[in-house]
Amino acid sequence: MEQPRPLITAESIAARVAVLGTEIASQIPEGQLTVVGVLRGAFVFMADLVRAIPRPHRCDFLGVRSYGDATLSSGIVEITSDLLLPIEGDHVLLVEDIVDTGLTLRYLIEILEARRPKSLRVCALLSKPSRRRVEVPVHYLGFEVPDQFVVGYGLDAAQQYRHLPYIAVLE
Ligand code: IMP
Ligand code: MG
Repeated sequence: MEQPRPLITAESIAARVAVLGTEIASQIPEGQLTVVGVLRGAFVFMADLVRAIPRPHRCDFLGVRSYGDATLSSGIVEITSDLLLPIEGDHVLLVEDIVDTGLTLRYLIEILEARRPKSLRVCALLSKPSRRRVEVPVHYLGFEVPDQFVVGYGLDAAQQYRHLPYIAVLE
């Protein structure tokens, strides 16, 4: 197995997550907040993020699978496991691992908007802006990364490396 090269340390991630949590708690208007994590990539980030949001909120998950080549987004996403909670009238925060072309996120936003939340904001751990093919809103962003394949802290390559406590580049 290839040896990943560390890119963002666990300490930098923790510091950024703390800032994001505070911003999210204070900037999202009053009312019911539901945090929705996209499985599986966002599970580690979401676990840390919700503990940094000092405000009552509900947690739910959306299981998705992209069709086709894992490294080449088609934007066609299959919902493998839907939300358990209704989100109509809620302030929803969608939590993603990484926004690459933006196609997956655009699709997920469309699905969630159809359920009439009061507001919908996006928090992504990582973004590769140079790869964007469609414009998508990312209200809260952890880090921008270069156009390289990254793993760790929930992100995988063929289901490996998700457990790494830092973010690394697969050479
Ligand atoms: P998009 O539709 O091109 O924005 O792709 C988003 C999805 O592709 C993410 O949610 C990830 O699951 C996956 N992905 C894109 N780039 C990477 C990467 O560098 N490492 C791991 N997964 C990635
Ligand atoms: Mg993903």
